[in-house]
Amino acid sequence: MSTTSGTTALFHVQGLVKNFGALRATDDVSLAVNAGEIHALIGPNGAGKSTLVNLISGLHAPDVGRITLDGVDLTPLPMHARVRAGLSRCFQITSIFSKITVLDNLLLAVQSSGGRHPGGRVRGLSRVLRNLLGDRARDDTLRAQAVQLAERVGLGAALDRVAGALPHGAQRQLDVALALASRPKLLLLDEPMAGMGPEDSERMTVLIQTLKRDMAILLIEHDMKAVFALADRISVLVYGKVLTSGSVDDIRGNPQVQAVYLGTEDVA
Ligand SMILES: Nc1ncnc2c1ncn2[C@@H]1O[C@H](COP(=O)(O)OP(=O)(O)O)[C@@H](O)[C@H]1O
Ligand SMILES: [Mg+2]
Repeated sequence: MSTTSGTTALFHVQGLVKNFGALRATDDVSLAVNAGEIHALIGPNGAGKSTLVNLISGLHAPDVGRITLDGVDLTPLPMHARVRAGLSRCFQITSIFSKITVLDNLLLAVQSSGGRHPGGRVRGLSRVLRNLLGDRARDDTLRAQAVQLAERVGLGAALDRVAGALPHGAQRQLDVALALASRPKLLLLDEPMAGMGPEDSERMTVLIQTLKRDMAILLIEHDMKAVFALADRISVLVYGKVLTSGSVDDIRGNPQVQAVYLGTEDVA
């Protein structure tokens, strides 16, 4: 059984407030994500979804409130320390180096995530030889991690392709792989299906589904087909506030949600 109240959840946002001048973009938002759960956040344009992601990832500081992951208070931590604490976010392609290959993008990501060779195998050799072998072994380990990430997102056959020349959907897959390099406990996805056709959307839906075995996911997405297929829990954000939170069936059948967000027509 899953619950998003109490202290059992992996990730908590409590009483978060963010003002931009006179505008309250985040208005006392509380939500929780359990391990192994996909929590989707939906709401009309301007509702404050991206602001919430920016507060969680550390791009903006909240005026009030607390963010905790696996018992660690992230609120005072800068972005890189949040990543080290287990938080990762997709940056919608902007994190991809477009002029280098898929493999090199992933190598950079695993390298900067502190992929380390254990070193035990090279003990007892001369220092020069140890350094040589150590570097070689470390390179092999990093490469293996990079290849594994590519395979995980379905880019195993595209290692030598220049990232910027990949189709849009594949670039999004690479962006997810980069976010996975730090082995997050919580993955933030801000509109991963944006700009995708139905085929790419479907592929991304399957990919996200496979990720939830290993991490909790906070998914912001306009594609309601994907949201209904993936979410264990949905929260609806309107004018910076959580209007309601519930299962897919709760949200689908909620007349207030239909009126405010989904239009008055039936959501099948
Ligand atoms: N950096 C900012 N400075 C001022 N206003 C902002 C900033 N970021 C977002 N906003 C405003 O906050 C509100 C919520 O925006 P946003 O979080 O982008 O909504 P959503 O992602 O749900 O479309 C909007 O009115 C937007 O104009
Ligand atoms: Mg947004």
